[in-house]
Order: sequence, then C-alpha cells, then structure tokens
Amino acid sequence: MNEKQKVGEKAADYVEDGMVIGLGTGSTVFYTLTKLGQLVQQGLSIKGIPTSLQTEQLARELGIPLTTFNEIDQIDLAIDGADEVNPDLHLIKGGGGALLREKIIAKAADTFIVVADSRKMVDTLGSFPLPVEVIPFGMEMTRKYLEELGGSPQLRQKNGSAYLTDNGHYIFDCSFQTITNPRDLEIDLNLIPGVVENGLFVGMADIVITLDLHKEIDINSRK
Ligand code: 5RP
Repeated sequence: MNEKQKVGEKAADYVEDGMVIGLGTGSTVFYTLTKLGQLVQQGLSIKGIPTSLQTEQLARELGIPLTTFNEIDQIDLAIDGADEVNPDLHLIKGGGGALLREKIIAKAADTFIVVADSRKMVDTLGSFPLPVEVIPFGMEMTRKYLEELGGSPQLRQKNGSAYLTDNGHYIFDCSFQTITNPRDLEIDLNLIPGVVENGLFVGMADIVITLDLHKEIDINSRK
C-alpha cells in the first residue's frame, strides 16, 4: 500500500454515521473517497459535498450520496489533500485547481482533516508555486499586482490554452520561493480586485494525517 493510500484511508476512520462530509480533490483523497464508497455499500449513511466537478463525478461512480449548500446548515467534516504543509499546519493547496471550492468547504466544516504524503511536509511554505484564482477580465493588471507582492505568476495552461477552473476563472501559479508570513500574504493577495481566492489555507487545518520515519501514521492536531 503506498503512502497516499495509507493516509487517505486513515481519514475515513473519522467519518461517522449521519455526517455531512466535504469531499476533497486529488490523488490522496481519492483513497478516502474509495474507502467511503465501500463503507456506504456496507450501510454507512453520509452525505457528501464535493469540492470539484471531478470529485462529484467520482463520488457518483462510488455511490456516495451527495448534497449541496441549499440543503444543509453545516458540514461536519471536510477531508482534503494539500501541496505543502508547514509545522503550524498552514497549507498551500490548489495544485489540482479546486482551491476556491476547497476553501469554501473547509471554512464551513466543523473539522478539517488534511491527508498528505510525507513529501508535502515542509519547514517553510513556498517551494510549491502558490495557485491564485483570478477572473479573466483585467488579468494583465492582476499579474502586475501579484508581481508587486513578490510573486512570479505563470498562467496555468491545459492542452495549449489557459486552464479554466470549475468556476470559469484562470489560475496564476505564483512562485514566491519562501513564504515567511502566510497569514499576511493570504490577506494581501485577496485584496487585489481581480483575485478570487488563493491557495494559502492559514489556520484552517485541524488535523493533518501523514507518515513519518518513526510512526506508520502521524497525526498532527490543532485541537
Ligand atoms: C487540489 C488540491 C489537492 O488537494 C492538492 O493538489 C494535493 O493533491 P494530491 O493529493 O493529488 O497530491 O489542492 O486543488
């Protein structure tokens, strides 16, 4: 069993009957979703709220019942992957392009669990280029403002065209090299008018499930 599968499946232990679950996006949480699909077949009753169209389709294939914000008051638990995790459990997310819905769902969740293989654990955030979701209108100006904050924005591409998010926006992947104050940067980025959201998740993760050299499963918790 690979690392992603181990940590992904472990997160399913936190899921209880009757819960509303935020369903993350990516290759690690894929294993959580697969496990949840099996548990649902065995009688577990949950409702999932997906963070992307990709996850929505996967959840349907796995037989996980879905819901929407129209139908619920709260999310009990959200489970998602990350691109980087620092010792304070601050994150970079959005490598899969789903950062906006991921952040809306993580914020709405009573508990937010992150599943991450050991390569995601870093001392300082910033080696992974920070995804910033922007509206197409005025993106040239938005790029300039991102550069003024110290980033090197690259417009994300897919099949030779600008990558479009599920929300119809573009993504600038912004190399900052070292992000020493993620809290301030998260706020500064979102003050740029053309920025919809950025991939810094500061103070949001309650539990991070990973592996380390000494323990099979390492659970870092904020609570
Ligand atoms: C998608 C994300 C993912 O959670 C992140 O990219 C990690 O993905 P993976 O588990 O495939 O490494 O933020 O927008």
